[in-house]
Amino acid sequence: MDPPSANPTTTVKLVLLGEAAVGKSSLVTRFVNDDFQENREPTIGAAFLTQKCSLPNRTIKFEIWDTAGQERFASLAPMYYRNAQTALVVYDVTKPASFIKARHWVNELKAQASPGMVIALVGNKMDLVEQEDEGEEGGEDAPTKKVAAEEGQKLADDEDLLFFETSAKSGLNVKEVFLAIANKIPEESRRPQAARPAVEDGRIDLNARQGAHASSQNCAC
Ligand code: GTP
Ligand code: MG
Repeated sequence: MDPPSANPTTTVKLVLLGEAAVGKSSLVTRFVNDDFQENREPTIGAAFLTQKCSLPNRTIKFEIWDTAGQERFASLAPMYYRNAQTALVVYDVTKPASFIKARHWVNELKAQASPGMVIALVGNKMDLVEQEDEGEEGGEDAPTKKVAAEEGQKLADDEDLLFFETSAKSGLNVKEVFLAIANKIPEESRRPQAARPAVEDGRIDLNARQGAHASSQNCAC
């Protein structure tokens, strides 16, 4: 049972978009369960999880739709971003192609999604390049940073997005992304009708659903 609280709860639908393997599911797992898995399986269709952020005057309950980045699932994306109040558009800081894809998602959201949607641009896998900056031995095959923070910041400034560089592996800035989004949700925000898309059987990751139930009593931030 939730602890008694005088604060009202606002339910917010959030969608994650981005190229395959940039770390969308890993960011959600870090936020919801404070956990990280190396070599995780790609998402099939989408996964649904929930997590709360406690603000001084209200609680934000995120209903999180973690979409699959593989191209074969691209046609499903509108079903998940429709009626979403907020989106995380994720790229991998070591993969310039994923930043181009992120730009594409931002354009698509601006054209097709709810007006006023709060969008956060997220450059993930910073741990890979932080090692390099600190002069640690990453080995010859260690990835280098190929998307500069300035590029991400410029896109964010041009398109009025929040911008963070994160690591799902170390936890760097993960709570901060969700907290910043929570703070940008207007007080009067109401859950849109039919917020949940009609998801076909087999397209939801059932393990992720269980994770959602297990974690829904805790606030992450
Ligand atoms: P799709 O579901 O296919 O769209 O991929 P995704 O964007 O959900 O990526 P996922 O979270 O499955 O991560 C892909 C791989 O990158 C996994 O092997 C993760 O362990 C790894 N990974 C994710 N985030 C990070 C990170 O911040 N740092 C490092 N080093 N690896 C990460
Ligand atoms: Mg995934």
